[in-house]
Amino acid sequence: MTGAFTVAIDGPAAAGKGTISKAVAAHFGFAHLDTGLLYRAVGRKVLDGTAPLAAARALVPEDLERDGLRLPEVSAAASEVAAMGDVRQALVEFQQGFARRDGGAVLDGRDIGTVICPGADAKLFVTASAEVRAERRYRELVDKGYETTYADVLADQRARDKRDRERTDAPLVQAGDAVRIDTSDMSIDQAVARAISEVEKRMGEG
Ligand code: DC
Repeated sequence: MTGAFTVAIDGPAAAGKGTISKAVAAHFGFAHLDTGLLYRAVGRKVLDGTAPLAAARALVPEDLERDGLRLPEVSAAASEVAAMGDVRQALVEFQQGFARRDGGAVLDGRDIGTVICPGADAKLFVTASAEVRAERRYRELVDKGYETTYADVLADQRARDKRDRERTDAPLVQAGDAVRIDTSDMSIDQAVARAISEVEKRMGEG
């Protein structure tokens, strides 16, 4: 294989993308970038009073390691800044630079296979039913000690899904050449195994 091998993994929140991306990256020894963290870090700065575009332009890798980026208020702020075209544009180079690194990279998000890395070597679209995803996110939040209800999590998620799918700039949509993996009825191990085998197939073709 010559050059960097890039894996694009897109899909809605809580479909298993994060777990699958980490496992795929570990399996092949690739670097991993959770691009949702970029929007979360910008959202966090906006909650702290910075203007969205200024926050996006000033983003540094250390910002992705801040505490509290997965809290519901940060999720909501991230979804709002993710709908801003100028904010998205300001984050393109960071993501494409990461994708080009030697040794291979896995990027997960909403628009990796469509906008950020349309020429990715392997593209997966990981999804699950809205109810299954809300249930997973609800358990995650409760396990972290956050007080919420399944109904609230489902309602928040529907609002974010709608915004992610309907925004004009880089909406959440499956790339024509992406392999769809619906994890609703899969265990984590099954979903990871399926993803790894799909990436392996693309490597064989390269
Ligand atoms: O995957 P996540 O929940 O951490 O993403 C946070 C927000 O950022 C979510 O509203 C979708 C948005 N996002 C995006 O628009 N494009 C990406 N590549 C990744 C995330």
